[in-house]
Amino acid sequence: MNSPERLQHRVSARMADIDPFHVVVLVTRAKALEAQGRSIVNMVIGEPDAPVAPVIAEAGIRAIQTGQVRYTPGLGTTALRESIADWYRVRYGVELPASRIGVMPGSSGALLMTMGVLIDPGDEVLMADPSYPCNRHFVRTMDGRAVCIPVGADTGYQLTAELVERHWSPRTRAVMLATPSNPTGTLIGFDELRAIHAVTTRHGGVLIVDEIYHGLTYGQPDRTALEFTDDVFIINSFSKYFGMTGWRLGWMVMPQAYVPDVEKLAQNLFISASDIAQQAAIAAFSAEAVAVHEARREAFREQRDFLLPRLQGLGFDIPIEPEGAFYIYANCSRLTNDSYAFCLDILETAGVAIAPGLDFGSHRAAEHVRFSYPKPIPVLAEGIERLRHYLNR
Ligand SMILES: Cc1ncc(COP(=O)(O)O)c(C=O)c1O
Repeated sequence: MNSPERLQHRVSARMADIDPFHVVVLVTRAKALEAQGRSIVNMVIGEPDAPVAPVIAEAGIRAIQTGQVRYTPGLGTTALRESIADWYRVRYGVELPASRIGVMPGSSGALLMTMGVLIDPGDEVLMADPSYPCNRHFVRTMDGRAVCIPVGADTGYQLTAELVERHWSPRTRAVMLATPSNPTGTLIGFDELRAIHAVTTRHGGVLIVDEIYHGLTYGQPDRTALEFTDDVFIINSFSKYFGMTGWRLGWMVMPQAYVPDVEKLAQNLFISASDIAQQAAIAAFSAEAVAVHEARREAFREQRDFLLPRLQGLGFDIPIEPEGAFYIYANCSRLTNDSYAFCLDILETAGVAIAPGLDFGSHRAAEHVRFSYPKPIPVLAEGIERLRHYLNR
């Protein structure tokens, strides 16, 4: 029926450029298989299974019980912003005024605000391919253009100052990095980070560094770009190290001059982040919670050390040991020439869920898969056994 009373289905042109997560197809199928009674080893989702640290949960419950759960200021409560500033002082030795911190609904909110205040239509943002898929969509949502630069093992799957220089154009507005990276777990060396910042600012651009996997590095301390500059956008979150994915809380540190605009945009787009989550998150910095998080970091390292050599033994090529996050980005070209079909078949046949390279970009995507490893070692061992059986058929 095509009467004028019917809603016309017409979406904005930008929606054609927003790709779905292919992992969602896999997750949905994995759930359907589980509902049929199949056991699935799930190494697809980027979050640990462990419950939130009890002291955080208790603070959240207390917040609800006070009955005082309200809108907060657009950039978050003073108490939480000050706790975050303290964290930078203790953890990194960086002095930061709490006024430069904006508390957001997840680092996703922080990324959206950052793009919102920086990007005009047609502006370009340089980023690595592979990288976190939502980044190019944040840029597209602001009618900017994500320039995804192919990277490989030779640069640790990261941008370098030389690559930034080579891809700079008159339309380039910003450079987006993530260290440690999703999907590769690799870091950017501190000197390289400084060099990328120097090239970016020399060209009049802005550097955005996603530090959401800070706290989850193995064998070396985290270094933040805030150690050498105030002129940078830092993105961070309570989701990963602090284990609070579902609480939807993150933050950004911005140059002082951008604070009023970010505040204005945040107030308009979501008023404030969740007050319950903000009240609870103060406890995430307590010694008790940090002890839980540090023990988890140690467990993740053991899980990585368990999985990595076993995947190599099965024929996956992993040229660089991932030093952070909880992902292993593996080349599977000795096993398949279509990693998406491979992931679908492994799920159906072996009952193991992993993510295809396609979700993280297009550069050699069909040759790669991502394993998310924050799982108990017996679960990882079962995954390896199933894969061995599958590959030896
Ligand atoms: C690199 C990176 N940045 C940002 C996010 C968004 O996380 P959140 O919105 O939960 O803070 C993720 C989530 O997986 C990520 O991997």
